[in-house]
Amino acid sequence: MKIGVLTGGGDCPGLNPVIRSVVKTAINEFGFSVTGFKDGFEGVILNNYINLDNNSVSGLLSRGGTILGSSNKANPFKFPIPQNDGHVYLDRSPEVIANYERLGLDALVVIGGDGTMAAGSGLEELGINMVGVPKTIDNDLLGTDQTFGFDTAVTTATDAIDKIHTTASSHHRVMIVEVMGRYAGWVALASGVAGGADIILLPEIPYDLNVICEKIKERNRQGKNFSIVVIGEGAKPEGGSMVISKMVETSPDAIRLGGIGNQLGAQIEGLTEIETRVTILGHVIRGGSPTAYDRILGTHFGREAVHLIANKQFGRMVVLKGNKFDSVPIKDVAGKVRNVPLDCPLIRSAKSLGVCLGISNESLEKPNNPNHQIHENKINQIEEKEVTA
Ligand code: F6P
Repeated sequence: MKIGVLTGGGDCPGLNPVIRSVVKTAINEFGFSVTGFKDGFEGVILNNYINLDNNSVSGLLSRGGTILGSSNKANPFKFPIPQNDGHVYLDRSPEVIANYERLGLDALVVIGGDGTMAAGSGLEELGINMVGVPKTIDNDLLGTDQTFGFDTAVTTATDAIDKIHTTASSHHRVMIVEVMGRYAGWVALASGVAGGADIILLPEIPYDLNVICEKIKERNRQGKNFSIVVIGEGAKPEGGSMVISKMVETSPDAIRLGGIGNQLGAQIEGLTEIETRVTILGHVIRGGSPTAYDRILGTHFGREAVHLIANKQFGRMVVLKGNKFDSVPIKDVAGKVRNVPLDCPLIRSAKSLGVCLGISNESLEKPNNPNHQIHENKINQIEEKEVTA
């Protein structure tokens, strides 16, 4: 067999270990040959590829990013072409099909998040034998318990929160750490718990500013004269909206979040009169060398993807369920978001330890509380847009 591989969407630590695993398994176990496309689907559209062998993937386990390059704008069905001051969008899926056939490929491994899986699902319908590998620091892909990249992002964020702790305590300040994660709070929740945050704010639980300020004041009354707040970039106040830092019109999901920490910091300082500082970790948590966990998860995922191809099980995405590897139809998970369920073990533990989740424990437990609404489709969430410079 001849297989292609590409990495799509935002990069994350662990992509290179997956590429390495795909190539080594394909060559060593099955004698397949492997073509690596550059910059996501753009490489298939433009026929920009390299042949991958054992030598080309040597030394990749510890390398962050992706040797193939990635793009979160190369949707083959809506490919942006610059024109005058803006863009026109073309359906370039026929070129994908033509190049796939010209290269004599039998299958394509797409390593990506919800957007990449959505494009992959569309191409599957046009006859490409597709296999997906779930990637994202956000950990928000439906169907799998975990994506690779998440563990490294949480580890980096936790390290940052540890460092913020010491300066917070020296200056008796409120320190806010904003982390990526888009519309899901997995990164904020996990790094907040691991870093010992006093307040953790997630997109899934719109917060009440008064509850947050009361928690900070209560800590001060107890003689704990600093507080750490970890906030996911998609968090919002009750009745309010997410803070958008930028619109990237050529990207399938144009919204770039960021800045809610600054908004919250100013409000906390105003209401509590306690000096407050904000750190936005941004892309730092997406970079660097993958943790051992992500290297191992990526290695398993890559191997499983090639086994799906060898068994001719196409149109499926590799998943981790409990401690078992399995696969689900790509079309079932494409374009969907997996939010943090409010009854998940980490929320329960955070509550038991007295961490404030932005609303009172009583309202968190009320079954009909609107905060319990879990959004499956991210597009529906963005009804009100607030654009900050
Ligand atoms: O999906 C990964 C992610 O890092 C999100 O957490 C974040 O909102 C977004 O990508 C940032 O995208 P970009 O790299 O285009 O700024």
